[in-house]
Amino acid sequence: MMIGITHLHTTLRYAVVVALLLTLIQALMAKNGKKTFSKGLDRLTLMSMILVHIQLLLGLFLYFTSGKVLFTDMAIVMKNPILRFFTVEHILGMLIAITLITIGRVKLKKIPQDAAKLITYYGFTELDF
Ligand code: HEM
Repeated sequence: MMIGITHLHTTLRYAVVVALLLTLIQALMAKNGKKTFSKGLDRLTLMSMILVHIQLLLGLFLYFTSGKVLFTDMAIVMKNPILRFFTVEHILGMLIAITLITIGRVKLKKIPQDAAKLITYYGFTELDF
């Protein structure tokens, strides 16, 4: 099971990268006015967030079971590049990334007054009244 979860966690990185790249491109296009807020962007940000949260759960399982993570002697961990990477650097970097992705998604959901969003969901804007 450990090997299966490691493979799943390792392979899912490609899905994460593709989803985040697509989200970034769509968000930049929306920011530059080349595209309005769309259901596509909404679904894409949701998909990215779900994928990184699955990575988080799998990562947490691996963190407490992997032989590449050691808590007992930090002097040994910090001298060994592999142990240091998985015990300290990987989890820290990924937790920061997952937090930022989650904040981005929450911020996007908090723009109900956005006219473009109203057009997408309800088919009208305030200007139509
Ligand atoms: C988007 C988030 C993440 C991505 C894309 C990601 C990606 C990866 C990749 C590609 C590997 C394989 C590295 C290799 O063997 O060369 C890996 C391993 C690992 N990851 Fe993550 N990771 C993420 C989040 C996390 C988090 C949040 C944790 C801890 C809570 C974590 C813990 C681990 C551990 C312990 C391993 C080593 C597994 C082993 O081979 O024994 N990961 N991760």
